[in-house]
Amino acid sequence: MSARRTLIAGNWKMNGLAADALALAGGLAEKMKAAGDVNFDMLICPPAIQISVAVAAVQGSGIQVGGQDNHWNASGAHTGDTSVNMLKDAGCSCAIVGHSERRTDHAETDQIVKDKAAAAQAAGLIAVICIGETEEQRDAGKTLDVNGSQIAGSVPDGSTAANTVIAYEPVWAIGTGRTPTNDEVQEVHAFIRGELAKKIGDNEAAKTRILYGGSMNPGNSKDLLALADVDGGLIGGASLKVDDFWTVAQNA
Ligand code: 13P
Repeated sequence: MSARRTLIAGNWKMNGLAADALALAGGLAEKMKAAGDVNFDMLICPPAIQISVAVAAVQGSGIQVGGQDNHWNASGAHTGDTSVNMLKDAGCSCAIVGHSERRTDHAETDQIVKDKAAAAQAAGLIAVICIGETEEQRDAGKTLDVNGSQIAGSVPDGSTAANTVIAYEPVWAIGTGRTPTNDEVQEVHAFIRGELAKKIGDNEAAKTRILYGGSMNPGNSKDLLALADVDGGLIGGASLKVDDFWTVAQNA
């Protein structure tokens, strides 16, 4: 049994309107309240414009709310961006940074991701730093190299287990229904923890939660969450339905 508390995190991406956010966050809050003591932390990451709706809906449930991205600057002339202080002010405790969709859609480099993560940490938020190889990179046998260099480049120096979560999301597994085998997932997670140790020390690396993301669902989550170095999930599609997300959490 790991000392790391399982984190079940939902990344809603760019889905749903305010009424959907209210129904989803409210439905999960009801389940959490009815469940009482649970053996996992739950985090939901709505679109920025719906964070306030979600925060209000989860009041008193213990569910945490996070952003899906943040700017590296505290404020200023950055049209369309969201600052870490805005996330905090709205009631967030976490921020996802470096998701592969942002690395692709917005040309985010490791350096940008690192700066965003550092800004989130400095504001007192937990940075959920995403990494993962493409299918082409996996086929070329570069899975460990790619994830190692993303850890080296995207994780701020001085990160701690308290202000950092790593999410391993193979790009080819996102939204596809395909996942690596359980052995492959465990191999990469153990490798990531080793690379993290080089950066933040054995002690912090041993305590840092490493989530698996990429087609995690009610059916495969029990096996994935049972792996030694898998400390939770970052879930896309299956986080958009109360029952699916709740079933994944029950598998923690
Ligand atoms: P899916 O669970 O839809 O594959 O998405 C995973 C993901 O990208 C979470 O950040």
